Amino acid sequence: MPSLSPKSAMLQASPIRKLAPLALAAEARGTGVIYLNIGQPDMPTPPEMIAELHGLALDRLAYAPSEGLPRAREAWSAFFASWGIDFSPDEILVTSGASEAVTFALSVVAGGGGEVLVFEPCYTNYLSFAAQADVTLVPVTLRVDDAYHFGSAERLTSCITPNTKAILLCNPSNPTGTVYTETELEAVASVAVEHDLFVICDEVYREFVFDGGQVRSFTRFTDLAERIIVVDSVSKRFNSCGVRIGCMATKNREVLDVTLRFCQARLSVATAEQLMVVPMLEHGRAYSERLGREYQDRRDAVYAGLGRIEGIEPHRSEGSFYTMTRLPITSCEDFAAWLLRDFAHDGETVCLAPGQGFYVTPGLGADEVRIAFMYDALTLRRAMTILSSAVAAYPGRLATATAATSP
Ligand SMILES: Cc1ncc(COP(=O)(O)O)c(C=O)c1O
Repeated sequence: MPSLSPKSAMLQASPIRKLAPLALAAEARGTGVIYLNIGQPDMPTPPEMIAELHGLALDRLAYAPSEGLPRAREAWSAFFASWGIDFSPDEILVTSGASEAVTFALSVVAGGGGEVLVFEPCYTNYLSFAAQADVTLVPVTLRVDDAYHFGSAERLTSCITPNTKAILLCNPSNPTGTVYTETELEAVASVAVEHDLFVICDEVYREFVFDGGQVRSFTRFTDLAERIIVVDSVSKRFNSCGVRIGCMATKNREVLDVTLRFCQARLSVATAEQLMVVPMLEHGRAYSERLGREYQDRRDAVYAGLGRIEGIEPHRSEGSFYTMTRLPITSCEDFAAWLLRDFAHDGETVCLAPGQGFYVTPGLGADEVRIAFMYDALTLRRAMTILSSAVAAYPGRLATATAATSP
């Protein structure tokens, strides 16, 4: 048989879904599983969106324009304006989710051998997007002890080489829930200017900022407008991951023109889906603000529950709908498998996302897990009780949390 390409070997199987067979087997044995591992919103897609889909008067589903339907681009522009962000329709390209937008952005600014700085732990699929674009991700490692903040520009500058083309920033962050401070955003901005870099801003969780914190879009650096490429999506803010609609927005004409060629090569994005999201884009601000408050209640439930587990100093997520935390366990991958294979508390267990999959640097994150807030607060409280009794019962538990090995 002919061998497959070296690139094929670079794409990892989703670390989040690896445990799925064990979870299914647990359910088959009659053990209930609370899935804390996947960021698939549990709440219904807004009825307005579904009604819009049913009401679409489409008699011919031809290819849409590669850049997106004019109506959809206008709606995205209105959506950005509702958050005080200025992008005209012709500065926006509609994409198949933020996933396609990140892949295009990486390809356009650094594809074919360039380097892009990324804070780790990071969204796992960045690794695969970078592999597809032939981009090397250079990690700036954040520490749980620093609440996954980087603090100063030096952390970034020490990772820059002549081959660095961009900084990829996810704010608020999946998986840590970090909302970068004003000072940190200014540090990113100053490094970008000093080293002539693009900033790819993945702001798919923009509205989910807790504790009365401000939405801190990177687009507020208007003097950097030509360097900024924003990536966005309806998936999380409108509980509609399956719609597969996102966008890329920038004021940089050259980036837009070249990205359009990528868009043209994949012809178009689904017509009905581009249109069904229009009303929510135009009038959905109150909806996503409500969601943000719900996720804060859930964050509170998880944070309080983790705080009651001996050996854990929980990390307090500031936004998105995730948190990452260190456990008093050497291998959370083994622990997550054990939870599904060998453990139940009152007939239930939890499925966790082991931390290692969120790091670019091999070996980091072995004692961390990511927890997604995809159940109501009551269920999450129960999940934390299950986790607490599991940590106490686990044979591989460390004597003290300080023996843990995270950076
Ligand atoms: C940080 C981040 N960026 C991008 C995506 C992909 O979003 P989409 O569903 O729009 O492709 C996700 C999905 O979980 C994400 O967490």
